[in-house]
Amino acid sequence: MKPTKKKTEFDKKFYIKWMVIAMTAIWAAIAAVWLSMHNWDTEESMQALARAFTEQPAETEQEAPAEEEAPVKDEQPAPEETEQPETQPEEPKEEAPEATPKDATVYPEIDQLPAEPTIVKGILLANKQHPLPETYAPGENAEARAAFDSMAQAAAKDGLQLTAFSTYRAFDRQKQLYDGYVAKDGQAAADRYSARPGFSEHQTGLAFDIGEAGQEQHWASASFGDTAGGKWVKENAHKYGFILRYPEGKEQITGYMHESWHFRYVGKEAATAIYQQNITLEEYLGI
Ligand code: DAL
Ligand code: ZN
Repeated sequence: MKPTKKKTEFDKKFYIKWMVIAMTAIWAAIAAVWLSMHNWDTEESMQALARAFTEQPAETEQEAPAEEEAPVKDEQPAPEETEQPETQPEEPKEEAPEATPKDATVYPEIDQLPAEPTIVKGILLANKQHPLPETYAPGENAEARAAFDSMAQAAAKDGLQLTAFSTYRAFDRQKQLYDGYVAKDGQAAADRYSARPGFSEHQTGLAFDIGEAGQEQHWASASFGDTAGGKWVKENAHKYGFILRYPEGKEQITGYMHESWHFRYVGKEAATAIYQQNITLEEYLGI
């Protein structure tokens, strides 16, 4: 029997109605399950739904924040790692001058002595890097001698008889001394305590080797520094314009080992600054 048109329309409507109800129920059930999976939080569920379309399973993404932190943490040092190669080459560049510090004990390779002495900040400088002309022969400096005499008078009031047993030494005299020391101790050892001719501060007439009269056993000896006279001069010389020229522990700066008896006249202002700052003449002059 052929269905009537009315019957057919009724069947269609019936079918569509129940299909809609069924689909709605299915979607409602899926939504309920989805919501329950996300703590019934609508916003979290919607975000999860959105993430579901980014091809990553929601469950993996649930852990993602924790996992992502790790890569982020791992990535944080990365910029430093990538910066390191940038900074590393810079650091050696900055440290390069310090990596090869000036060693004042080493003589420069020079063909001949200079025509003029070196004067820095008004102070005549003579060391292994700053030699004097062979012809430079000023004799003992009168101002330095007067300053020494004043100092000796002050020391005498404290019962100490200071004497300067070696002051100005001409080029030839220094050569004689140096050659003798080399013959006795070898050049390496001699170079630590005796200047080569042309390099001695004694040639400037401003260096005074100081000792105590009657205490010759301490002259030109480290032991002078332990005597009352040696201690007095060390603490008072600056008031008269003298400095302890080769202090202990400064050989790399001054070029010579400690000499408790060798004082250099530089004038009261420089001597006082050098004494108070506990620095060497080289440091004071900034060379
Ligand atoms: N003793 C010092 C360094 C000189 O020979 O000048
Ligand atoms: Zn000396």
